[in-house]
Amino acid sequence: MNSTPLNTLGMPVQPPLQSIPASITSLADYVRLAREHLEAGAWAHIESGADQYLTLAHNRAAFDQIRLCPQALADLSNAHTRQALLSEQLQWPVLLAPVAYQQLAHPEGELATARAAMAMRTGMVVSTLSSHSLEDIAQTAQTASQELGRSGPLWFQLYQQATREYTLQLVRRAEAAGYTALMWTVDAHIKRSSYPLPPGVEAVNLRGMPQQRHSADLMSEQILFGTDLARHAPSWDDLIWLRAQTRLPLIVKGVLSPQIAARAVDLGADAIVVSNHGGRVLDGAVSPLEMLPAIRAALPEAVPVLMDSGVRQGTDVLKAIALGASAVMVGRPQMYALAVAGMLGVAHMLYLLRAELELAMAQTGCATLADIQPQLLVR
Ligand code: FNR
Repeated sequence: MNSTPLNTLGMPVQPPLQSIPASITSLADYVRLAREHLEAGAWAHIESGADQYLTLAHNRAAFDQIRLCPQALADLSNAHTRQALLSEQLQWPVLLAPVAYQQLAHPEGELATARAAMAMRTGMVVSTLSSHSLEDIAQTAQTASQELGRSGPLWFQLYQQATREYTLQLVRRAEAAGYTALMWTVDAHIKRSSYPLPPGVEAVNLRGMPQQRHSADLMSEQILFGTDLARHAPSWDDLIWLRAQTRLPLIVKGVLSPQIAARAVDLGADAIVVSNHGGRVLDGAVSPLEMLPAIRAALPEAVPVLMDSGVRQGTDVLKAIALGASAVMVGRPQMYALAVAGMLGVAHMLYLLRAELELAMAQTGCATLADIQPQLLVR
């Protein structure tokens, strides 16, 4: 029997490239090439959306239906993309979203991503479900920043565990390792997911903790209601509890409603991520982009609003900022770039996105992020 892993094209999975081919000039090129470098099941897992993929498609459509009105003649001599966010300085308004199990894309997984993030002065949010330990990733990022003299914020994404004791263990480990913010994901505790991880890839941070089921068991009497899965879903009480446990800035990820955002901030959240988890959770959900203006308006001006889901080019970043985002995150493109060329791929992917953003800002006459206003957008 042939055990060579095959890609979605039915060919042997291609090893990561050692240099970046001139043919890669956009994130879309990474998607195209990644098909050759990912095992078919891993590709399907990364690509997938909930149910009929309606939300997945809608996330892109929401960006594509907005057009930009160019503004010539602006003074760009002091133009930059810097911004303060949660007492940190972002060099540009893009962060790497938490994406689990990055060893599915490359043996170095999150370690390669962390080096790339630091090299490109980009924020990285490390998933609870990382395939390297949160300590090793933080150490790698710190070493890379020292070597390169460049850095970006390193935040930890928290999934609530079966008991508060286990959740707290993760919080304390993230604090001790030097993460500077916690991003608590509240929208994905319950989802359909049936991807069996290949040998060697696991949620190493959760070793020794009881593993939670995340999808409904079709063979049991109770589907979802009445099960631990439903009982342990994050709640407002958990937010109040978590807020009291840590002094790190607390960012709540997975919000699509102005009321929920406002209540989370009232209860102590420092920032919100408007997200539908890249269309992976509720099919038919609204896109974060279309909810941004209402959520921005529902919160005090000082509270940062981040967004993700569907960001694939520099103009998307500009559109999101014009609609109220302080910064955006990219999810899947990390995995495509990792699979194609490891650390180099992720760094290059970020370089492309940043170059596109600066070009879009120049074309629309925006010398700073504050100049990016809704008037630039035409529907
Ligand atoms: C994710 N996402 C995610 N979110 C989170 O809070 N913790 C996690 O561990 C993961 N893991 C994960 C794995 C994979 C394969 C994907 C594609 C996504 C969601 C992620 O943070 C982000 O919200 C979306 O990926 C954003 O959408 P785009 O950029 O992929 O369209």
